Amino acid sequence: MEIAQTIAEFKSWRKRNLGSVGFVPTMGYLHEGHLILVRQAREENSKVSVSIFVNPTQFGPSEDFKAYPRDTERDLALLEKEQVDVVLIPSAEDMYPQGYNTWVEVEKTTERLEGSHRPGHFKGVATVVAKLFNIVEPTKAYFGQKDAQQALVIKKMVADLNMNLEVIVVPTVRESDGLAMSSRNIYLNPQERQAATVLHKALNQAQQLLQKGEKDAELIRQVMTSIITKEPLAAIDYVSIADAQTLEELSQIDRPAIASLAVRIGKTRLIDNTLLT
Ligand code: PAJ
Repeated sequence: MEIAQTIAEFKSWRKRNLGSVGFVPTMGYLHEGHLILVRQAREENSKVSVSIFVNPTQFGPSEDFKAYPRDTERDLALLEKEQVDVVLIPSAEDMYPQGYNTWVEVEKTTERLEGSHRPGHFKGVATVVAKLFNIVEPTKAYFGQKDAQQALVIKKMVADLNMNLEVIVVPTVRESDGLAMSSRNIYLNPQERQAATVLHKALNQAQQLLQKGEKDAELIRQVMTSIITKEPLAAIDYVSIADAQTLEELSQIDRPAIASLAVRIGKTRLIDNTLLT
């Protein structure tokens, strides 16, 4: 496994590897949710590349950029086991040198949900992912359904800017009690970890109501909200039942829909979602 610490080093690897390249962008502190993306990339491409970069431009001023968990040595050992070919670990100075001035903004899809609660977040995400795509020149890039809105934003950017790659979205990996795996789960103390299962419970209930024939989106939002409100350690940022493509809030579930939520458990902000089928 090669480790490229600079963009130039990565580009030199890419010149020597001209076949299909799968790419998994990450912020590190890897778990099974990341590794499932790597495994799918391994199956579908002759070479696999992963980036580890905690991207400062996607964190708001009061968010956890500094505290975001990092363990590069452990990450590299995990990636080596998955037979990754190359890992890009650029510095912030290499990605955003002094005088850096160019940004990618995807409109509409970014205005709702995470976008409305984290101003500037998707501008940072779209910009860093566009840069990484230009550096890596992947055949296919892999994203998790866990961050459903992010996956939609990246797909839209790739389509709108005619980028020459395929975006693949992979189902969410969960702990045995349903909690979606996340690097941020490490922040939870045992009590909070228990409380965090409320996200999955609310999403499950939404799915079940729809399967029983309930199409009233507002009623389903209310049921989800009441499940979460009963958990004293949880505070809701949003509960949404939206069009699965545009993320517009629905009143009736009359098309493919996604239930998603953002909940603060103590100081930790967690997100999760499920496609309603
Ligand atoms: P990060 O949070 O490290 O996630 C990297 C990728 O792993 C994302 O595509 C995310 O959706 C996916 N992922 C995380 N948890 C998952 C789970 N439980 N199941 C399936 N997939 C999961 O998302 C980012 O980093 C950044 O925003 C990035 C795209 C790297 C840009 O900086």
